[in-house]
Parts: sequence; structure tokens; C-alpha cells
Amino acid sequence: MTCRVGLMGWPVEHSLSPAMHNAAFAALGMDWEYVLLPVPPGEVEATVRALAARGFRGANVTVPHKEAVIPYLSRITEAAHAIGAVNTIIVEEDGSLTGENTDWTGFLAALEEAGFRPGGQRALLLGAGGAARAVAYALARAGARVIILNRTPERAEALVRDLAPGVPAGSLQIGPLEPDTLAWEARQASLLVNATSVGMWPRTEESPWPDGLPMPSHLVVFDLVYNPLETKLLRQAREAGARTVDGLGMLVHQGARAFTCWVGRPAPVEVMRAACYDALRKGGRCSDS
Ligand code: ATR
Repeated sequence: MTCRVGLMGWPVEHSLSPAMHNAAFAALGMDWEYVLLPVPPGEVEATVRALAARGFRGANVTVPHKEAVIPYLSRITEAAHAIGAVNTIIVEEDGSLTGENTDWTGFLAALEEAGFRPGGQRALLLGAGGAARAVAYALARAGARVIILNRTPERAEALVRDLAPGVPAGSLQIGPLEPDTLAWEARQASLLVNATSVGMWPRTEESPWPDGLPMPSHLVVFDLVYNPLETKLLRQAREAGARTVDGLGMLVHQGARAFTCWVGRPAPVEVMRAACYDALRKGGRCSDS
């Protein structure tokens, strides 16, 4: 019988994950399929509880359910607990459910692929939502000092309060997302990460970096948004002579780690990356995994 995994979210129809995982299964000759599981907010519990009985070996979880699934799982990993979000559910052989977070390790893998070593570095992180939590945790655990700037300061405060117990003391700081702070902090930092949704299709003419503010050329600028692949922020960075990293690497590496959790073997990362490029070219329009 075909083994199934799927993506729980709302909405999910424009996701690149089915193309990415089904290409991986096909490349390895595996009788597995990755399907979409559109789950309206009121149906999270019923969907999670029915996964094993419906023949699912696991699932990815995306917006808005990454926190909502947690009460219905048998256990969650330390990282998923610290970040407060599960993006991968594994159906164990006894039918119990494990919650994992592969966003933070996927981010670190993409950073490593770009040749950036975060240990001892100062990183400027824009945003304090779900994606920012995984990135802040990843950078702090890797030994970076992280300055978090967010439009809504209370959300950045909550992020630091929640993550502090699991990361080195003093590794997370916050500030306002306004031009003077951005300019000053960007000069001190070696890495700038956009974990806000600003610049995502269809609002591709927006950037969290104000027009006219010079961007330091020594920066590595990483945008988690991958649709479009070159966001306005990355264009500004490129034009300033800074190094740029687009969001596709993190998508691929979080997927590769989820794949390995489910099937117990290494993921064909390059097959998955090529499938994402193909799907994007054909008009994938969503930045959710
Ligand atoms: P995700 O799970 O993808 O991180 P999210 O939790 O909704 O999504 O978080 C979105 C992030 O983008 C938040 O940091 C949000 O800022 P607020 O906390 O102030 O809402 C940020 N964001 C979205 N639109 C923005 C905008 N126009 N300007 C600045 N920040 C924005």
C-alpha cells in the first residue's frame, strides 16, 4: 500500500511541498505520496487524531496550525517545545505522534550552504512571528548574538521571554523596527535576516529596508521569502554590493529533514531543490512550506 504524508494548513493549495517531496519519492523509487490536507481551524484536532488511521506516516504543518497541533501529539522534541511550533509530525510504528521542528535546522543548513558561520557573529533579525522564532532559536543556539526588530514590540518581547530558557544567556536583544535603529544595527551586524512577510508576492514592491537608506556592503542578507526569489530587499542588497541568500534553501532543507524523519534515509536535496525551482517557474504563489 502506498505510504502517505501530507501538508496540514489553511490555505495550502499553492504550496511547493508536494512537488518537492513527490520528486524525492520518485527519484528514490519509493511508493510514497505527499498530499495536501487543507484543514480549517476548527478541524485541527480531528485531523491530527485521524492521521494514523488514515494511513499517514507523517505530515508537515504550516500556517496557521503550527502551534495548534501541539496538544494532540504524544510528545514533542525539545526544539519544538522551545520554539513553540511544530512543522513536522511523525507517525510512529505504534501509532503515537511525535512533533518536530525542522525550520530551525533547515535555516542553519541553508546558512551553512551559503558559507556563513553564525558562531560569534552579530545578527539582525527582522520580524517576531513564527518564522522569526525558529531563526532566533537557530542563531542563538549556534552562538550568535541576535538583535530582533519588530513592528509590534510586544511580540518581540514575547519571543525573547519564550526562547530565553533554551538559548545562551544574553544572546537575544530587541529593538524597534525603525530606520535609525535599522541603520545603526546593520552597521554592527554581519548578517541581516528578513523573517517578516514584507516583500512576499503579491506585494513584491515592498521591503523592510527603507528606500534611500544606504545598506552596508559587508552584510550577508538572507530573506526567508522565496516568492519572488529575488525580493526587493535582496535587490537592494545586491545593488549595495552585499551578499544575498534567498529563501529557497531553507524551504528545501526543512523539507529534507522532514523527509528523513519520515522515511529514515537521506533526502535527495538537489532533486528537491530542482523540483521547487520548476514549481516556482510554473507559478507557485505561496511562501508557506
Ligand atoms: P510567519 O509565521 O510567516 O512568521 P507571522 O507569525 O504572521 O508569520 O509573522 C509575520 C511577521 O511579519 C511579523 O513579525 C509581522 O510583524 P508584527 O508582529 O508587527 O505583525 C511582520 N510583518 C508583516 N507585515 C509587516 C509590515 N507591513 N511591516 C512590518 N512588519 C510586518
